[in-house]
Amino acid sequence: EKDPLIVLVTGAAGQIGYALLPMIARGAMLGQDQPVIIHMLDIEPNAETLKGVKMELMDGAFPLLKGVIATTDVIEACKGVDVAIMLGGFPRRKEDNKGLIYKNVAIYKAQASALEQHADTNCKVLVVANPANTNALILKEFAPSIPEENITSLTRLDHNRALNQISENLNVHVGDVTNVIIWGNHSSNLYPDANHATVNTGVGHNSVKELINDDHWLNTDFITNVQKRGQTIVKARRLSCAFSAASAVCDHMHDWILGTPKGTWVSMGVYSDGSYGIQPGLIYSFPVTCEKGEWSIVQGLKIDEFAREKMDALQKELIEEKLVAYSSLH
Ligand code: NAI
Repeated sequence: EKDPLIVLVTGAAGQIGYALLPMIARGAMLGQDQPVIIHMLDIEPNAETLKGVKMELMDGAFPLLKGVIATTDVIEACKGVDVAIMLGGFPRRKEDNKGLIYKNVAIYKAQASALEQHADTNCKVLVVANPANTNALILKEFAPSIPEENITSLTRLDHNRALNQISENLNVHVGDVTNVIIWGNHSSNLYPDANHATVNTGVGHNSVKELINDDHWLNTDFITNVQKRGQTIVKARRLSCAFSAASAVCDHMHDWILGTPKGTWVSMGVYSDGSYGIQPGLIYSFPVTCEKGEWSIVQGLKIDEFAREKMDALQKELIEEKLVAYSSLH
């Protein structure tokens, strides 16, 4: 049997945490043959809730779950961590963007220092809490010994939403749609790109662009449907999305650690290396393939003018967020 991996979930008493924890304990994230020890972190006002979640995890009697720690002590939570899922943060609904960035910079600074000192040096980190890309940058700033390529942010939910939009439009199974791209930032201006997406028709792979044959839809409603999906769900559920986000977290970590299927890429927020003209030093969402725990940015895709404009606008947005975040550090 494999040695257990220690998985940290911050903000574990929240909505996404509640959906994510049983998925991790059932092996949906790291595989059915990978035992796990879960460290749950939340803040003092939610300590009781966290205890309740721990009781449910224990009552799940999950064979893969070898231990659970529920704590409000960031150092205890970060000890020996191999995988860190950062859901904890100050909620967007209560702040404007600048205020949100300031509050979260303070949180991510503290948690990064704890990871720096107490986590495994090869710890893989996924930041989900918004503003996810910028929180991830701050985390790296204060956890300098964790390698750059180990710090990522979540755009997989947007990626999966884009796959679903295409599947509904073409009336094909979502599992047969691949290779959409979420470029740049997870924000209200996010850009899903279907220019390179394909559908497996059973006899081959056809281009989504040709099958849909309606650039107007791809450049308007397709984009806004993905951008507004979160709000549409809040309206219907009277709560924000939770298990779709949790499932996307599992997909992100699963594919990163266990690899993407041949011929398929996924979207991840990662450190730019200058690919597609995006300046290094930003965490930007790119199409990536993964193998043996390492991602690499898909190269050589042809970018049309429409996409270029969106990609540049998102770069600008991320540069501005970065400036705001760093201005609060000094
Ligand atoms: P939630 O508000 O239900 O849960 C957040 C939890 O974080 C709460 O239990 C809170 O007590 C905790 N928390 C706050 N400060 C903390 C700190 N300093 N340390 C540890 N825990 C702390 O929110 P929900 O719905 O679970 O969402 C979590 C985050 O994920 C939010 O920031 C949300 O905006 C973001 N999100 C990102 C998505 C993406 O695609 N990148 C998609 C959906 C949500």
